[in-house]
Amino acid sequence: MNNSTDYPLLIEQVRALIDEEPDPIAALGNACAVLFHSVPDLNWLGIYRRDSGALCLGPFQGKVACTRIPWGQGVCGVAAATGMTQRVANVHDFDGHIACDSDSMSELVVPIVDDGNVIAVLDIDSPIAGRFDATDQSGFERIALLLTSACRELID
Ligand code: SME
Repeated sequence: MNNSTDYPLLIEQVRALIDEEPDPIAALGNACAVLFHSVPDLNWLGIYRRDSGALCLGPFQGKVACTRIPWGQGVCGVAAATGMTQRVANVHDFDGHIACDSDSMSELVVPIVDDGNVIAVLDIDSPIAGRFDATDQSGFERIALLLTSACRELID
């Protein structure tokens, strides 16, 4: 499923975008663009950041999305509350899934952790059930590490 994604190349592209631009919105906006347009079969990809104890929509690619997600709710909120990547093969089987885009069938949400605290999550959605495997998970977990410093600039 992931054999057309070159994660090592993508990691270098994201690293360059983050390293060359100190403004977090500019850097993260471009990082979302390169990820969304390089990984096949996605319908939404973006960042939710911690804000007043909830998650607030950050830079993203895709259709209009929910702007605020309570901590602990939905796939994103569970990733934030547990600090654990959530890889959901079929979102309709996930208790409490928040349907922002009805096209989404599977979802991968990676926490972005700074000094032991979750400060944001990277949310990746696909219209194909079971789209994400362990290679996608480890690739996006490495990418999430690169986004930490920019996300730190966005939180309260
Ligand atoms: N489905 C997510 C909400 C965010 S959107 O998919 C963009 C969730 O359950 O947390």
